Amino acid sequence: MTLFSDSIDQLNELLAQRSEVFAVCDKHVKSIADSLGRCQGGKKIPVLMMEACEEYKELRTVEKICAWLLDKGADRGATVLAIGGGITTDVVGFAASIYKRGVKAAYVPTTLLAQVDAALGGKTGVNFKKYKNMLGTIVEPDFTYICPAFLKTLPEPVFREGVSELLKACLLSNEGSAYEKAVAYFSGINSSTLYQDATLLLPHIRHAVSVKEKVVSEDLYEKGLRRTLNLGHTFAHGIEHLSQKCSWFRKPHPIPHGEAVAMGILMAARLSYRLGLCEENLPDRLRDDFLACGLNIRCPYTPKEVLKAARTDKKAEGNIIHFVLLKDIGEAVIKDLSISEAIRAFES
Ligand SMILES: NC(=O)c1ccc[n+]([C@@H]2O[C@H](COP(=O)([O-])OP(=O)(O)OC[C@H]3O[C@@H](n4cnc5c(N)ncnc54)[C@H](O)[C@@H]3O)[C@@H](O)[C@H]2O)c1
Ligand SMILES: [Zn+2]
Repeated sequence: MTLFSDSIDQLNELLAQRSEVFAVCDKHVKSIADSLGRCQGGKKIPVLMMEACEEYKELRTVEKICAWLLDKGADRGATVLAIGGGITTDVVGFAASIYKRGVKAAYVPTTLLAQVDAALGGKTGVNFKKYKNMLGTIVEPDFTYICPAFLKTLPEPVFREGVSELLKACLLSNEGSAYEKAVAYFSGINSSTLYQDATLLLPHIRHAVSVKEKVVSEDLYEKGLRRTLNLGHTFAHGIEHLSQKCSWFRKPHPIPHGEAVAMGILMAARLSYRLGLCEENLPDRLRDDFLACGLNIRCPYTPKEVLKAARTDKKAEGNIIHFVLLKDIGEAVIKDLSISEAIRAFES
């Protein structure tokens, strides 16, 4: 269940109906935890603050959350509320899905990326042995509470990362010209107008949420259709992997996920054209739109380097990768190709 709201009030009403709620909150949004009401019987909601960074998105943090729940006496009827971005919802969701063989999780996403992507669809997880999201579960949260006003403190680069994922959703389904409307909106705002009226964001968030929810409702376990949500992600994972690597002449300069997704979508569009799937102007149009929306699309790697690095992607099956490609805006297709076939297409 996804709920949209413009304040914390409705959340507090929901929580007041639950017998036991335990909140885990990203330390950058402590003010939300401070405004939480009480659960049934006037019981104060205990809060565990956590640091949200990829280094902490590990089993030791899951263990810490489970130990805290145990210490607080959480039983099987408890609801664990995650307040924060995608790191928080992924880790807390994972902890909730295994604590006492699974208790309810509910999410209050506080980044744009989490509101349109990470807090939806039930995937939870942590990084393991240097692989992203290698351990995890798929369990849908009890509810996801989306309030654009919670984004007001979000630094602009983190906000723009969410714009990539939001545009990705519009590229998968362009109902009501959602893509054109989103490009017009995001290219028209700057650092000072970003959050002037957070409610203006709501229609764009709603569209992205509906795209993801529809796909997930048809294919929760990613046997087919759900793969389309990975548009740009095969390339993005390669880009992220390369940017984290160190060499004698280059220090690691991690490219954030949202930025890598924008670069990855552009590579997917170019591959689509090379394979004769879309018109010649589509890749250039997307590049211009993404630039106008303030996205960093300067990729320091060639498609060949990125594809070779993408081999470690856990979504690859053997040598074959399910590439999500574009026929047009709002029309994605999946094409199974080996890495060498994809490299050849770029070189042709
Ligand atoms: N489960 C899924 O389906 C799914 C989908 C996409 C991404 N993800 C995961 O999501 C994670 C990325 O999530 P993210 O981009 O939301 O980042 P995040 O959780 O790392 O948050 C980014 C930064 O913003 C801070 N922050 C969060 N909300 C804030 C606010 N309102 N004001 C100020 N600062 C705030 C955080 O403390 C952090 O420093 C990745 O680990 C990725 O694997 C999961
Ligand atoms: Zn993503």
